[in-house]
Amino acid sequence: MSGGHEWAIPVAGGDPDALRVALAQVEPLARRDPGAIRVVRAPGRVNLIGEHTDYNDGFVLPAAIDLDLRIALVPAGDRRVEIVLAESGERGAFDLDAIGARTGTWIDYVAGTAWALAEAGVPTRGFRGLLSSTIPTSAGLSSSAAIELASAWALTEPPGGGVDGMTLARICQRAENAYVGVNCGLMDQAAESLGTAGRALLLDCRTLDWRPVPLPLDRCRLVVCDTGSPRRLGASQYNARRAQCEAAVAVLATADPSIRALRDVSPGMLASIRSRLEEETYRRCEHVVRENERVLETVAALGAGDLETVGRCFAESHASLRDLYGVSSPELDAMVEIATSTPGVLASRMTGAGFGGCTVSLVERGAEERLRDAVLSAYPHRTGLTPRVFVVDAADGAGLLAGT
Ligand code: GLA
Repeated sequence: MSGGHEWAIPVAGGDPDALRVALAQVEPLARRDPGAIRVVRAPGRVNLIGEHTDYNDGFVLPAAIDLDLRIALVPAGDRRVEIVLAESGERGAFDLDAIGARTGTWIDYVAGTAWALAEAGVPTRGFRGLLSSTIPTSAGLSSSAAIELASAWALTEPPGGGVDGMTLARICQRAENAYVGVNCGLMDQAAESLGTAGRALLLDCRTLDWRPVPLPLDRCRLVVCDTGSPRRLGASQYNARRAQCEAAVAVLATADPSIRALRDVSPGMLASIRSRLEEETYRRCEHVVRENERVLETVAALGAGDLETVGRCFAESHASLRDLYGVSSPELDAMVEIATSTPGVLASRMTGAGFGGCTVSLVERGAEERLRDAVLSAYPHRTGLTPRVFVVDAADGAGLLAGT
Protein backbone atom coordinates (compact mmCIF):
# COMPACT_ATOMS: atom_id res chain seq x y z
CA MET A 1 0.00 0.00 0.00
CA SER A 2 1.65 3.22 -1.06
CA GLY A 3 -0.34 5.77 0.95
CA GLY A 4 -2.43 5.62 4.09
CA HIS A 5 -5.55 6.83 2.27
CA GLU A 6 -5.34 4.27 -0.48
CA TRP A 7 -7.49 1.19 -0.10
CA ALA A 8 -5.81 -0.76 -2.87
CA ILE A 9 -4.71 -3.25 -0.25
CA PRO A 10 -2.62 -6.00 -1.81
CA VAL A 11 -5.00 -8.72 -0.71
CA ALA A 12 -4.74 -11.24 -3.50
CA GLY A 13 -7.58 -13.68 -3.95
CA GLY A 14 -11.10 -13.37 -2.63
CA ASP A 15 -14.29 -12.53 -4.42
CA PRO A 16 -14.06 -8.86 -5.50
CA ASP A 17 -17.70 -8.17 -4.57
CA ALA A 18 -17.31 -9.61 -1.10
CA LEU A 19 -14.09 -7.63 -0.76
CA ARG A 20 -15.86 -4.39 -1.68
CA VAL A 21 -18.65 -5.04 0.80
CA ALA A 22 -16.15 -5.85 3.51
CA LEU A 23 -14.05 -2.79 2.74
CA ALA A 24 -17.10 -0.55 2.91
CA GLN A 25 -17.61 -1.72 6.47
CA VAL A 26 -14.19 -0.69 7.73
CA GLU A 27 -13.74 2.29 5.45
CA PRO A 28 -15.37 4.92 7.69
CA LEU A 29 -12.70 4.25 10.29
CA ALA A 30 -9.97 4.44 7.69
CA ARG A 31 -11.32 7.76 6.44
CA ARG A 32 -11.33 9.22 9.92
CA ASP A 33 -7.67 8.37 10.46
CA PRO A 34 -6.10 7.30 7.17
CA GLY A 35 -2.53 7.48 8.43
CA ALA A 36 -3.28 4.82 11.02
CA ILE A 37 -4.02 2.01 8.58
CA ARG A 38 -1.60 -0.89 8.79
CA VAL A 39 -1.25 -4.11 6.89
CA VAL A 40 0.33 -7.09 8.59
CA ARG A 41 1.05 -10.38 6.89
CA ALA A 42 1.93 -13.94 7.80
CA PRO A 43 2.94 -16.62 5.30
CA GLY A 44 1.86 -20.22 4.98
CA ARG A 45 4.56 -22.86 5.30
CA VAL A 46 5.63 -26.02 3.59
CA ASN A 47 7.78 -28.55 5.39
CA LEU A 48 10.64 -29.84 3.24
CA ILE A 49 11.55 -32.67 5.60
CA GLY A 50 11.36 -33.61 9.29
CA GLU A 51 7.77 -34.78 9.68
CA HIS A 52 6.32 -35.62 13.08
CA THR A 53 9.70 -34.87 14.62
CA ASP A 54 8.97 -31.48 16.21
CA TYR A 55 6.98 -32.84 19.16
CA ASN A 56 9.72 -35.43 19.67
CA ASP A 57 12.34 -32.71 20.32
CA GLY A 58 13.80 -33.38 16.87
CA PHE A 59 14.82 -31.46 13.74
CA VAL A 60 12.59 -29.89 11.08
CA LEU A 61 13.29 -28.09 7.79
CA PRO A 62 10.24 -26.02 6.80
CA ALA A 63 10.05 -22.90 4.64
CA ALA A 64 7.66 -19.95 4.80
CA ILE A 65 6.00 -19.56 1.39
CA ASP A 66 4.58 -16.73 -0.68
CA LEU A 67 0.97 -17.79 -0.19
CA ASP A 68 0.01 -15.56 2.69
CA LEU A 69 -2.61 -14.05 4.95
CA ARG A 70 -3.00 -10.32 5.46
CA ILE A 71 -4.89 -8.15 7.88
CA ALA A 72 -5.51 -4.51 6.98
CA LEU A 73 -6.25 -2.79 10.26
CA VAL A 74 -6.91 0.40 12.09
CA PRO A 75 -5.59 0.30 15.66
CA ALA A 76 -8.35 1.26 18.11
CA GLY A 77 -8.20 3.18 21.35
CA ASP A 78 -10.48 0.60 22.94
CA ARG A 79 -10.22 -3.09 23.88
CA ARG A 80 -12.45 -4.39 21.09
CA VAL A 81 -11.19 -6.57 18.24
CA GLU A 82 -13.40 -6.75 15.15
CA ILE A 83 -12.40 -8.53 11.96
CA VAL A 84 -14.23 -8.91 8.67
CA LEU A 85 -13.29 -11.71 6.28
CA ALA A 86 -12.72 -10.21 2.83
CA GLU A 87 -13.85 -13.37 1.08
CA SER A 88 -17.28 -13.72 2.69
CA GLY A 89 -17.97 -10.54 4.61
CA GLU A 90 -18.29 -12.67 7.76
CA ARG A 91 -17.50 -10.89 11.01
CA GLY A 92 -15.72 -12.05 14.14
CA ALA A 93 -15.32 -9.99 17.30
CA PHE A 94 -14.35 -10.20 20.94
CA ASP A 95 -13.37 -8.03 23.86
CA LEU A 96 -9.76 -8.20 25.04
CA ASP A 97 -10.86 -7.89 28.66
CA ALA A 98 -13.44 -10.65 28.37
CA ILE A 99 -11.97 -13.34 26.13
CA GLY A 100 -14.42 -16.17 26.62
CA ALA A 101 -14.15 -19.85 25.86
CA ARG A 102 -13.38 -20.95 22.31
CA THR A 103 -16.24 -20.91 19.84
CA GLY A 104 -15.03 -23.48 17.30
CA THR A 105 -14.64 -20.85 14.55
CA TRP A 106 -11.71 -18.97 12.97
CA ILE A 107 -11.94 -16.12 15.50
CA ASP A 108 -10.57 -18.58 18.10
CA TYR A 109 -7.12 -18.24 16.53
CA VAL A 110 -7.22 -14.48 17.04
CA ALA A 111 -8.74 -14.63 20.53
CA GLY A 112 -6.34 -17.42 21.53
CA THR A 113 -3.38 -15.34 20.39
CA ALA A 114 -4.65 -12.35 22.37
CA TRP A 115 -5.03 -14.62 25.40
CA ALA A 116 -1.52 -16.07 25.00
CA LEU A 117 0.04 -12.62 24.48
CA ALA A 118 -1.55 -11.44 27.72
CA GLU A 119 -0.38 -14.57 29.52
CA ALA A 120 3.17 -13.86 28.32
CA GLY A 121 2.91 -10.27 29.57
CA VAL A 122 2.88 -8.67 26.09
CA PRO A 123 0.40 -5.74 26.05
CA THR A 124 -2.43 -5.84 23.52
CA ARG A 125 -4.95 -3.29 22.19
CA GLY A 126 -8.05 -3.44 20.05
CA PHE A 127 -8.31 -2.95 16.29
CA ARG A 128 -10.74 -3.10 13.39
CA GLY A 129 -9.45 -5.21 10.58
CA LEU A 130 -10.09 -6.86 7.27
CA LEU A 131 -8.58 -10.30 6.71
CA SER A 132 -7.77 -11.88 3.38
CA SER A 133 -5.73 -14.94 2.56
CA THR A 134 -4.32 -16.89 -0.38
CA ILE A 135 -3.34 -19.87 1.80
CA PRO A 136 -5.66 -22.78 1.03
CA THR A 137 -7.37 -23.90 4.23
CA SER A 138 -7.39 -27.51 5.44
CA ALA A 139 -4.59 -28.27 2.99
CA GLY A 140 -1.77 -28.69 5.49
CA LEU A 141 -0.08 -25.35 4.70
CA SER A 142 -0.70 -23.99 8.21
CA SER A 143 -3.22 -21.27 7.56
CA SER A 144 -4.13 -21.48 11.25
CA ALA A 145 -0.61 -20.61 12.39
CA ALA A 146 -0.74 -17.74 9.87
CA ILE A 147 -3.87 -16.30 11.51
CA GLU A 148 -2.12 -16.54 14.86
CA LEU A 149 1.07 -14.83 13.67
CA ALA A 150 -0.77 -12.08 11.77
CA SER A 151 -2.98 -11.54 14.83
CA ALA A 152 0.07 -11.27 17.07
CA TRP A 153 1.39 -8.52 14.79
CA ALA A 154 -2.01 -6.82 14.61
CA LEU A 155 -2.75 -6.87 18.34
CA THR A 156 0.49 -5.36 19.58
CA GLU A 157 2.09 -1.95 19.85
CA PRO A 158 4.74 -1.66 18.49
CA PRO A 159 3.66 -4.22 15.88
CA GLY A 160 5.13 -7.57 16.90
CA GLY A 161 5.11 -6.56 20.56
CA GLY A 162 8.82 -5.75 20.57
CA VAL A 163 9.64 -9.41 21.25
CA ASP A 164 11.84 -11.64 19.09
CA GLY A 165 10.41 -13.89 16.40
CA MET A 166 10.98 -17.11 18.34
CA THR A 167 9.16 -15.75 21.39
CA LEU A 168 6.26 -14.71 19.18
CA ALA A 169 6.20 -18.18 17.58
CA ARG A 170 6.04 -19.83 21.01
CA ILE A 171 3.24 -17.53 22.12
CA CYS A 172 1.27 -18.51 19.00
CA GLN A 173 1.95 -22.22 19.62
CA ARG A 174 0.69 -21.74 23.17
CA ALA A 175 -2.50 -20.17 21.75
CA GLU A 176 -3.06 -23.23 19.58
CA ASN A 177 -2.21 -25.77 22.31
CA ALA A 178 -3.98 -24.23 25.27
CA TYR A 179 -6.80 -22.15 23.77
CA VAL A 180 -7.70 -23.69 20.39
CA GLY A 181 -6.94 -27.14 21.81
CA VAL A 182 -4.67 -28.59 19.11
CA ASN A 183 -1.57 -30.22 20.54
CA CYS A 184 0.78 -29.20 17.70
CA GLY A 185 4.55 -28.83 17.87
CA LEU A 186 6.46 -25.59 17.20
CA MET A 187 7.34 -26.11 13.53
CA ASP A 188 4.53 -24.16 11.85
CA GLN A 189 4.65 -21.08 14.02
CA ALA A 190 8.47 -21.00 13.94
CA ALA A 191 8.58 -21.28 10.14
CA GLU A 192 5.97 -18.59 9.68
CA SER A 193 7.61 -16.25 12.16
CA LEU A 194 11.29 -16.73 11.32
CA GLY A 195 11.28 -17.59 7.61
CA THR A 196 13.69 -15.86 5.20
CA ALA A 197 13.11 -15.36 1.48
CA GLY A 198 14.91 -17.96 -0.60
CA ARG A 199 15.74 -20.09 2.41
CA ALA A 200 14.37 -22.93 4.44
CA LEU A 201 14.68 -22.95 8.23
CA LEU A 202 16.56 -25.64 10.13
CA LEU A 203 15.10 -25.77 13.63
CA ASP A 204 16.27 -27.87 16.53
CA CYS A 205 13.03 -28.31 18.46
CA ARG A 206 14.87 -29.11 21.70
CA THR A 207 17.38 -26.26 21.94
CA LEU A 208 15.29 -23.93 19.72
CA ASP A 209 18.46 -23.09 17.82
CA TRP A 210 17.64 -22.27 14.22
CA ARG A 211 19.31 -21.09 11.07
CA PRO A 212 18.30 -20.25 7.52
CA VAL A 213 19.34 -22.87 4.95
CA PRO A 214 19.81 -21.54 1.39
CA LEU A 215 17.85 -23.40 -1.27
CA PRO A 216 19.34 -24.00 -4.74
CA LEU A 217 16.72 -21.80 -6.35
CA ASP A 218 18.94 -21.04 -9.34
CA ARG A 219 18.44 -24.69 -10.32
CA CYS A 220 15.03 -25.61 -9.00
CA ARG A 221 11.69 -24.46 -7.65
CA LEU A 222 9.33 -25.58 -4.93
CA VAL A 223 6.02 -26.97 -6.09
CA VAL A 224 3.15 -27.71 -3.71
CA CYS A 225 0.40 -30.05 -4.95
CA ASP A 226 -2.88 -30.09 -3.04
CA THR A 227 -4.56 -33.50 -3.19
CA GLY A 228 -7.96 -31.92 -2.59
CA SER A 229 -8.70 -34.75 -0.17
CA PRO A 230 -10.24 -33.91 3.18
CA ARG A 231 -7.89 -34.54 6.10
CA ARG A 232 -9.93 -37.45 7.46
CA LEU A 233 -9.36 -38.23 11.15
CA GLY A 234 -6.50 -35.72 11.08
CA ALA A 235 -6.70 -34.33 14.62
CA SER A 236 -7.49 -37.56 16.44
CA GLN A 237 -4.82 -39.52 14.57
CA TYR A 238 -2.29 -36.73 15.15
CA ASN A 239 -2.91 -36.84 18.88
CA ALA A 240 -2.81 -40.64 18.82
CA ARG A 241 0.64 -40.65 17.16
CA ARG A 242 1.88 -38.12 19.63
CA ALA A 243 0.62 -40.18 22.56
CA GLN A 244 2.24 -43.31 21.08
CA CYS A 245 5.62 -41.55 20.93
CA GLU A 246 5.29 -40.37 24.53
CA ALA A 247 4.32 -43.85 25.72
CA ALA A 248 7.34 -45.30 23.89
CA VAL A 249 9.65 -42.81 25.61
CA ALA A 250 8.27 -43.85 29.01
CA VAL A 251 9.13 -47.49 28.21
CA LEU A 252 12.54 -46.71 26.73
CA ALA A 253 13.46 -44.54 29.73
CA THR A 254 13.17 -47.60 31.98
CA ALA A 255 16.01 -49.14 29.94
CA ASP A 256 18.01 -45.90 29.70
CA PRO A 257 17.03 -42.98 31.99
CA SER A 258 18.89 -40.51 29.77
CA ILE A 259 16.12 -40.90 27.17
CA ARG A 260 13.76 -37.92 27.57
CA ALA A 261 12.37 -37.86 24.04
CA LEU A 262 12.77 -39.85 20.82
CA ARG A 263 15.41 -37.27 19.94
CA ASP A 264 17.70 -39.06 22.40
CA VAL A 265 17.37 -42.40 20.63
CA SER A 266 19.79 -43.48 17.89
CA PRO A 267 18.88 -46.18 15.35
CA GLY A 268 21.33 -48.56 17.10
CA MET A 269 19.78 -47.94 20.54
CA LEU A 270 16.31 -48.45 19.16
CA ALA A 271 17.26 -51.79 17.60
CA SER A 272 18.80 -52.96 20.87
CA ILE A 273 15.66 -52.28 22.89
CA ARG A 274 13.24 -53.44 20.24
CA SER A 275 11.83 -56.26 22.36
CA ARG A 276 10.49 -53.78 24.91
CA LEU A 277 8.11 -52.18 22.41
CA GLU A 278 4.97 -53.39 20.69
CA GLU A 279 5.53 -53.94 16.97
CA GLU A 280 3.46 -50.91 15.87
CA THR A 281 5.03 -48.61 18.45
CA TYR A 282 8.46 -49.75 17.30
CA ARG A 283 7.60 -48.76 13.72
CA ARG A 284 6.46 -45.30 14.85
CA CYS A 285 9.73 -44.80 16.73
CA GLU A 286 11.79 -46.03 13.81
CA HIS A 287 10.22 -43.35 11.62
CA VAL A 288 11.02 -40.54 14.04
CA VAL A 289 14.57 -41.68 14.77
CA ARG A 290 15.48 -42.06 11.09
CA GLU A 291 13.59 -38.93 10.00
CA ASN A 292 15.77 -36.84 12.30
CA GLU A 293 18.84 -38.24 10.51
CA ARG A 294 17.29 -37.49 7.13
CA VAL A 295 16.79 -33.82 8.04
CA LEU A 296 20.48 -33.41 8.78
CA GLU A 297 21.43 -35.39 5.68
CA THR A 298 19.17 -33.17 3.55
CA VAL A 299 20.71 -29.99 4.97
CA ALA A 300 24.21 -31.28 4.21
CA ALA A 301 23.17 -32.34 0.71
CA LEU A 302 21.57 -28.95 -0.01
CA GLY A 303 24.81 -27.29 1.11
CA ALA A 304 26.80 -29.50 -1.24
CA GLY A 305 24.36 -29.03 -4.15
CA ASP A 306 23.73 -32.79 -4.09
CA LEU A 307 20.10 -32.87 -5.16
CA GLU A 308 20.22 -36.60 -5.83
CA THR A 309 20.67 -37.22 -2.12
CA VAL A 310 17.87 -34.75 -1.36
CA GLY A 311 15.66 -36.79 -3.70
CA ARG A 312 16.54 -40.02 -1.91
CA CYS A 313 15.86 -38.47 1.52
CA PHE A 314 12.45 -37.20 0.36
CA ALA A 315 11.59 -40.64 -1.07
CA GLU A 316 12.64 -42.41 2.13
CA SER A 317 10.73 -39.90 4.22
CA HIS A 318 7.54 -40.46 2.24
CA ALA A 319 7.87 -44.25 2.38
CA SER A 320 8.51 -44.09 6.12
CA LEU A 321 5.47 -41.86 6.76
CA ARG A 322 3.39 -44.28 4.70
CA ASP A 323 4.71 -47.61 5.97
CA LEU A 324 6.02 -46.92 9.48
CA TYR A 325 4.21 -43.87 10.80
CA GLY A 326 0.92 -44.58 9.00
CA VAL A 327 -0.06 -41.00 8.16
CA SER A 328 -0.06 -40.98 4.35
CA SER A 329 -3.19 -41.60 2.25
CA PRO A 330 -3.88 -43.19 -1.15
CA GLU A 331 -4.24 -39.66 -2.57
CA LEU A 332 -0.89 -38.48 -1.20
CA ASP A 333 0.77 -41.66 -2.48
CA ALA A 334 -0.77 -41.16 -5.93
CA MET A 335 0.40 -37.53 -6.04
CA VAL A 336 3.96 -38.48 -5.10
CA GLU A 337 4.00 -41.31 -7.65
CA ILE A 338 2.84 -38.97 -10.41
CA ALA A 339 5.47 -36.39 -9.46
CA THR A 340 8.37 -38.81 -9.18
CA SER A 341 7.59 -40.30 -12.60
CA THR A 342 7.66 -36.83 -14.21
CA PRO A 343 11.03 -35.90 -15.77
CA GLY A 344 12.61 -32.92 -14.01
CA VAL A 345 11.13 -33.67 -10.59
CA LEU A 346 14.10 -34.09 -8.26
CA ALA A 347 12.35 -34.84 -4.97
CA SER A 348 8.77 -35.33 -3.79
CA ARG A 349 6.99 -36.30 -0.58
CA MET A 350 3.89 -35.65 1.48
CA THR A 351 4.20 -32.58 3.71
CA GLY A 352 2.61 -31.64 7.02
CA ALA A 353 0.62 -33.84 9.37
CA GLY A 354 -0.72 -36.12 6.61
CA PHE A 355 -4.12 -37.86 6.21
CA GLY A 356 -4.70 -35.70 3.11
CA GLY A 357 -3.36 -32.24 2.35
CA CYS A 358 -0.38 -31.48 0.15
CA THR A 359 2.86 -32.84 -1.27
CA VAL A 360 6.05 -30.84 -1.75
CA SER A 361 8.37 -31.31 -4.70
CA LEU A 362 11.70 -29.86 -5.75
CA VAL A 363 11.52 -29.40 -9.50
CA GLU A 364 14.17 -28.40 -12.02
CA ARG A 365 13.58 -24.91 -13.34
CA GLY A 366 11.61 -25.20 -16.56
CA ALA A 367 9.90 -28.46 -15.55
CA GLU A 368 7.20 -26.85 -13.34
CA GLU A 369 4.61 -26.78 -16.09
CA ARG A 370 5.37 -30.39 -17.03
CA LEU A 371 4.60 -31.38 -13.46
CA ARG A 372 1.45 -29.26 -13.44
CA ASP A 373 0.25 -30.91 -16.67
CA ALA A 374 1.06 -34.40 -15.37
CA VAL A 375 -0.82 -33.78 -12.12
CA LEU A 376 -3.83 -32.14 -13.76
CA SER A 377 -4.23 -35.00 -16.23
CA ALA A 378 -3.25 -38.10 -14.23
CA TYR A 379 -4.40 -37.31 -10.68
CA PRO A 380 -8.16 -36.85 -11.29
CA HIS A 381 -8.17 -40.18 -13.19
CA ARG A 382 -6.59 -42.00 -10.30
CA THR A 383 -8.58 -40.44 -7.47
CA GLY A 384 -11.68 -38.72 -8.84
CA LEU A 385 -10.50 -35.55 -7.07
CA THR A 386 -9.49 -32.13 -8.38
CA PRO A 387 -5.90 -31.21 -7.50
CA ARG A 388 -4.33 -27.77 -7.26
CA VAL A 389 -0.72 -27.00 -8.12
CA PHE A 390 1.16 -24.04 -6.61
CA VAL A 391 4.65 -23.05 -7.69
CA VAL A 392 5.86 -21.23 -4.59
CA ASP A 393 8.85 -19.23 -3.42
CA ALA A 394 10.39 -19.40 0.03
CA ALA A 395 9.31 -16.14 1.67
CA ASP A 396 10.01 -13.95 4.69
CA GLY A 397 8.26 -14.63 7.98
CA ALA A 398 5.39 -12.60 9.45
CA GLY A 399 5.64 -8.85 9.82
CA LEU A 400 4.39 -5.41 9.03
CA LEU A 401 3.73 -4.90 5.34
CA ALA A 402 2.53 -1.32 5.36
CA GLY A 403 1.88 1.48 7.83
CA THR A 404 3.88 2.41 10.87
C1 GLA B 1 1.35 -30.34 11.91
C2 GLA B 1 1.75 -29.75 13.26
C3 GLA B 1 3.27 -29.59 13.35
C4 GLA B 1 3.98 -30.90 12.99
C5 GLA B 1 3.43 -31.48 11.69
C6 GLA B 1 3.99 -32.85 11.38
O1 GLA B 1 1.65 -29.44 10.89
O2 GLA B 1 1.13 -28.49 13.43
O3 GLA B 1 3.62 -29.14 14.63
O4 GLA B 1 3.89 -31.81 14.04
O5 GLA B 1 2.02 -31.57 11.71
O6 GLA B 1 5.34 -32.79 11.09
